[in-house]
Amino acid sequence: MSRPPFRVAPLDAGHDRAVFDSGSAPLDRYFREQVTQDIRRRVAACFVALTKERRIAGFYTLASASLLLADLPASLGKKLPRYPTVPAVRLGRLAVDQMFKGQGLGGALLADALDRAARSEIAAYAMLVDAKDESAAAFYWHHGFISLPDSPLTLFLPLATVLTSR
Ligand SMILES: CC(C)(COP(=O)(O)OP(=O)(O)OC[C@H]1O[C@@H](n2cnc3c(N)ncnc32)[C@H](O)[C@@H]1OP(=O)(O)O)[C@@H](O)C(=O)NCCC(=O)NCCS
Repeated sequence: MSRPPFRVAPLDAGHDRAVFDSGSAPLDRYFREQVTQDIRRRVAACFVALTKERRIAGFYTLASASLLLADLPASLGKKLPRYPTVPAVRLGRLAVDQMFKGQGLGGALLADALDRAARSEIAAYAMLVDAKDESAAAFYWHHGFISLPDSPLTLFLPLATVLTSR
């Protein structure tokens, strides 16, 4: 992973979420107050990047999702079976603590999430993300994600491209 070295692990009760500060109040509130409930209810899985001292430097969440075939660009949709939806993995949230921004950790966490989704035994066509604004969308465009034609802040990346680029 990036420098300084981080290790990625599933969030557990021993990790201290209280000091995490991404600079985005809704994201921090979600991480402090809601994520463990979502994990318990099996509506999200959460992975954290930890420093050597076990401080949380970043996190992301993943969950199953689906994409309407009709929402995909026609050039891609016509190559898929004529089911109404295709399976996807939603990257629900991704955030890096302000102290660790700009060091490659966000990109490394995104790569880790893509790798995890692409390696899963449960098939999914793409990773899906709802960007909260244009600046967040720009982060995903930078990493190859494609906007849905009628909903530019919803972006996807076919997971086959992740496997072929390894
Ligand atoms: C967006 C965020 C996760 C980026 O994390 P980061 O660790 O600072 O990003 P990195 O250092 O890994 O940057 C990786 C690459 O993305 C680029 N990048 C980072 N933020 C970007 C943005 N908003 N738009 C375009 N490119 C961006 C970097 O320039 C870098 O490019 P390079 O690999 O060519 O050098 C972080 O700023 C954050 O937590 N923001 C608040 C929450 C948020 O917006 N989450 C994402 C959407 S829900």
